[in-house]
Amino acid sequence: MPSPDPIVSVTCLTRTFQRRRLHRGRFGALRALASRQSDTVNAVSDITFDIQPGEMVGYIGQNGAGKSTTIKMLCGILVPTSGSATVLGATPWRQRKQLAHRIGVVFGQRTQLWWDLPLRDSLHLLRHMYRVPGDRFAENLATAREVLDLDPFLATPVRQLSLGQRMRGDLAAAILHDPDLLILDEPTIGLDLLAKDRIRDFLRTLNRTHGTTMLLTTHDLGDIEELCERVMVIDAGRLRFDGNATALQHQFGGDIEIGVDVAHDQTIALANLPTGVTGEHLTASTWMFRFDRGLWTSGSAVRWLTTIAELRDVSINDGSLEQMIRDLYLSDKTSAHNVN
Ligand SMILES: Nc1ncnc2c1ncn2[C@@H]1O[C@H](COP(=O)(O)OP(=O)(O)OP(=O)(O)O)[C@@H](O)[C@H]1O
Ligand SMILES: [Mg+2]
Repeated sequence: MPSPDPIVSVTCLTRTFQRRRLHRGRFGALRALASRQSDTVNAVSDITFDIQPGEMVGYIGQNGAGKSTTIKMLCGILVPTSGSATVLGATPWRQRKQLAHRIGVVFGQRTQLWWDLPLRDSLHLLRHMYRVPGDRFAENLATAREVLDLDPFLATPVRQLSLGQRMRGDLAAAILHDPDLLILDEPTIGLDLLAKDRIRDFLRTLNRTHGTTMLLTTHDLGDIEELCERVMVIDAGRLRFDGNATALQHQFGGDIEIGVDVAHDQTIALANLPTGVTGEHLTASTWMFRFDRGLWTSGSAVRWLTTIAELRDVSINDGSLEQMIRDLYLSDKTSAHNVN
């Protein structure tokens, strides 16, 4: 059977920016303005990838790596310096309006809602802009109200919403017109755990029930773990990894570290630890264990620890996305990792 057309197809995509060279010292900013000297920033360099229908792909990298620049090109907000991209068969920067009817976009740092209008009115306005049929609007709004719990603030003007409420409103706005592709730039930035959970739940449900394809940038390992099977890592504009998210974590996530404080009079013998575990006695009642991520999860590690001692306190360091990316950069094997 022939494979379906990719939803996103990017070939040798490149975007450079010219930046005025900074001058040090007094009046440096003024001198920079007057000077004609500039530097070229390679925000995105020669990136190639495809995204197939129904995929949920995480796009990660350090600050300034080029994530938002890529996303802006895919939405048609920015024109690339060279290379090509098709999104749902269209060239985003040439067919931006046409594409807007088929994709949903959420920028965590910005809103597409109207500040002075109640959330409900913003959603109705968008319905008219996108010409969403009445029954589709009703169904999509009902799902968003339920999964994102919008009811407590549907009548509140957007400027009075908390960050988490506003993000939930923006997500509802992005899916009213049944987009085939959702592009999300840091959809969980700055949110508390409960708000993150709601948003992840919503995205998962949408992917399962509508088959919506998603590309999302994030600095949160939890987003990747809970949403994305595939992850792409960008560093200084270049794609450094494109592959399975669990494999990336196993390879570069480092060990899972668990510190335990045991009840009075208890001790833990460090001889004969199971495979993939090392331990260290820190103080009278505290121990530090390291678990190989290829063999253990934080859950299985804690369960095992509870069988060997009566625990008073447990602290888990399950690694961070930043740490994982740093380890990936430090590894000299990176070029061999699945990048086309
Ligand atoms: N309009 C612009 N003019 C000049 N330089 C820009 C512009 N937009 C982005 N850049 C530069 O391009 C590079 C990539 O920026 P981009 O916003 O894509 O990074 P990012 O991966 O989204 O980072 P973050 O995690 O901080 O959001 C950075 O060096 C940034 O300074
Ligand atoms: Mg960004």
